[in-house]
Amino acid sequence: MTATKAFAAFAATTPLGPLMIERRAPEPQDVTIEIDYCGICHSDLHVARSEWEGTVYPCVPGHEMIGRVTGVGPKVTKFQVGQRVGVGVMVESCGQCACCTSGKEQYCLEGYTGSYNVPDKRRGGVTYGGYSASITVHQHYVMRVPEGLDPAAAAPLLCAGITLYSPLKHWGAGPGKRVGVAGLGGLGHVGVKIARAMGATVVMLTTSQKKAEDALRLGAHEVIISTDEAQMKAAEKSLDLIMNTIAATHDYNAFTRLLRVDGTQVLLGVPPDGLPRPDTIRMLANRLSLASSNIGGMAETQEMLDFCAKHGVTADIELISIDQIDAAFDRMAKGDVKYRFVIDMASLKSMPFADTRA
Ligand SMILES: NC(=O)c1ccc[n+]([C@@H]2O[C@H](COP(=O)([O-])OP(=O)(O)OC[C@H]3O[C@@H](n4cnc5c(N)ncnc54)[C@H](OP(=O)(O)O)[C@@H]3O)[C@@H](O)[C@H]2O)c1
Ligand SMILES: [Zn+2]
Ligand SMILES: [Zn+2]
Repeated sequence: MTATKAFAAFAATTPLGPLMIERRAPEPQDVTIEIDYCGICHSDLHVARSEWEGTVYPCVPGHEMIGRVTGVGPKVTKFQVGQRVGVGVMVESCGQCACCTSGKEQYCLEGYTGSYNVPDKRRGGVTYGGYSASITVHQHYVMRVPEGLDPAAAAPLLCAGITLYSPLKHWGAGPGKRVGVAGLGGLGHVGVKIARAMGATVVMLTTSQKKAEDALRLGAHEVIISTDEAQMKAAEKSLDLIMNTIAATHDYNAFTRLLRVDGTQVLLGVPPDGLPRPDTIRMLANRLSLASSNIGGMAETQEMLDFCAKHGVTADIELISIDQIDAAFDRMAKGDVKYRFVIDMASLKSMPFADTRA
């Protein structure tokens, strides 16, 4: 076991603070990683503040990690010390079931082990995520990060990137397809870039008039202010696919009417207070699909990183120090993110650490 500096939520309503955690002794297939950067996903906020209930405190969030390999077990074949690598939302799955053996580990029939705040089924205890100085992970759940990608700006690809890449690919985004992206936050802005790189015509659906110019700069071909009834009416039946990334309860049926016959809306956000009932009348009248999707598999995550390196896609980030997490959470709760906060983990490693509450 190795004592490791981390930053944790201790309760839903108090600021995050330092916590010493123990990382496991490396197993034969384990890769030990010194974390350099970790993105802040809205899921971190949902969990740290117990908005989904069931948070186990202390909770160390973080599932958009990029760092360097500092050690490898004797059976590690994929990685070497010094290599730049990433870890995302999953750190383990059964490895045996039909989903795991077909590259869909995120749908493991036994349930995958998330990077933080879930029981470690094999070793006991609860998993601790990337708001920490290092992590030890089985090689199958570690990604190679192409050296051409800026590591801080690439960190958000490990969750936001794959969460958009997988459904965009699954539902056929590409040339000739008009793809709407609802919500210009962490997921949404990466979605705009990836959908554009896939060759689709990208339509940004935002509640924020002040983000319209940014949406175009990020790669959207068109912008619709979703609170403007005239703009929404003019866009009826104009989209093939919608990636809905909105983090709060909202009327997604307002977007349903933007879909063409046979169109699909993919609900990616997980609003703590849920969502209203679907407008089934409009859906049946146009053979529409309402769908959802969870991150992506390990091979697909590697494919996404390679795709992003090839197309020059990274996140637009605000780099913060570890003591700015609560301020970042507050801004994220207000939809004020440009467009992903990333923690510079050097600020944690250099912090004097009197606290040993683990
Ligand atoms: N399915 C998955 O695998 C997966 C993976 C990661 C995260 N998630 C979930 O996806 C959601 C988004 O995550 P994120 O990190 O992208 O969040 P984020 O950066 O906070 O962005 C969310 C965006 O939603 C819009 N929004 C927020 N409140 C709204 C409201 N009341 N009405 C309308 N629009 C609102 C805002 O965009 P505008 O200002 O443009 O309107 C905001 O920027 C979260 O619920 C997260 O837990 C799911
Ligand atoms: Zn996430
Ligand atoms: Zn499995």
